[in-house]
Amino acid sequence: MSYARIIGTGSYLPPRIVTNRELEATVDTHDEWIVERTGIRQRHVADTETTCDLAEVAARRALEMAGKRPEDVDLIVLGTSTPDLVFPSTACLLQGRLGIAGGPAFDVNAACSGFIYALGVAHNFIKAGTSRCALVVGSEVMTRILDWNDRTTCVLFGDGAGALVLEASDEAGILSTHLHSDGKYEHLLNVSAGISRNHQLLRETGAFLQMKGNEVFKMAVNTLGRIVDETLEANQLTKAEVDWLVPHQANIRIIQATAKKLNMPMERVVVTVGEHGNTSSASIPLALDAAIRDGRIQRGDMLLLEAFGGGFTWGSALVRY
Ligand code: COA
Repeated sequence: MSYARIIGTGSYLPPRIVTNRELEATVDTHDEWIVERTGIRQRHVADTETTCDLAEVAARRALEMAGKRPEDVDLIVLGTSTPDLVFPSTACLLQGRLGIAGGPAFDVNAACSGFIYALGVAHNFIKAGTSRCALVVGSEVMTRILDWNDRTTCVLFGDGAGALVLEASDEAGILSTHLHSDGKYEHLLNVSAGISRNHQLLRETGAFLQMKGNEVFKMAVNTLGRIVDETLEANQLTKAEVDWLVPHQANIRIIQATAKKLNMPMERVVVTVGEHGNTSSASIPLALDAAIRDGRIQRGDMLLLEAFGGGFTWGSALVRY
């Protein structure tokens, strides 16, 4: 059993939708600006639901598609940078909700690359024979860490969760995962307080996501271009052999640049940024689930998944669905 195969996907979006027009009432912005510069038309916002609440629905839907019971799961890896609590991890909370115990359950924080990191970790657990059936989740309530007075960030993000079930198989499968980071870019994208640093900010003013969007944009385009090459080379694959690009959904212009690099028409790219905004770790599994459920992605298709996020972190996965 040398492969980890996707046998089920699921996703969940909180029901409240906030349109660009609604944001015009609270910050100096315009629907036209947001659509033209980002491709985002609306985002879902969790009012009271937590990251674990969203993750649970997505996970149960993925298990249902996979035909698995929670007891079959022997590993949970959950990508998030907006966990319910400092600890227990959201993965442990999810394990408790699913009524299972014993297997490892832990969170991975790689900002917007969180799902690719979680997938990479679970893939290697399965390849090593340590796990046979893994639940891989990306879940976020990004809207809780936004400064709703900062038009340069508050229009960009949304909430949601996506999950997939991976099973050990002789049949491909995830072909490779590629994870990278470069820790010198804190100043371009961060949330400026935590537990051991600037803790008082959390009480006094709140601690919100800050981003130098313009600089992040350039780094994202260049880095994602490179990781596409790395992924294809590692698998001795040509661009024409990739059937679907399933990218992290931060900005339609970044997605278009990566598609161009792959010589891929936009009809072969799964795009959800217009409806979801940037849901960080949740964006790839949300997009993947949408395209599998509506029949665009078929068994046997070759998928390239890629993401870039705070850290900086970036990563990719090549998957035979
Ligand atoms: N509404 C209207 N105007 C806005 C605005 C908003 N919501 N946000 C910024 N602007 C203004 C800026 O203030 C600036 O005005 P100025 O020229 O008078 O200073 C102008 O629009 C251009 O800003 P700029 O930041 O250069 O725009 P941009 O084309 O780079 O788009 C982002 C901004 C954030 C959409 C874009 O840079 C981006 O998507 N960055 C990367 C995000 C990302 O990939 N993150 C990945 C990890 S999550």
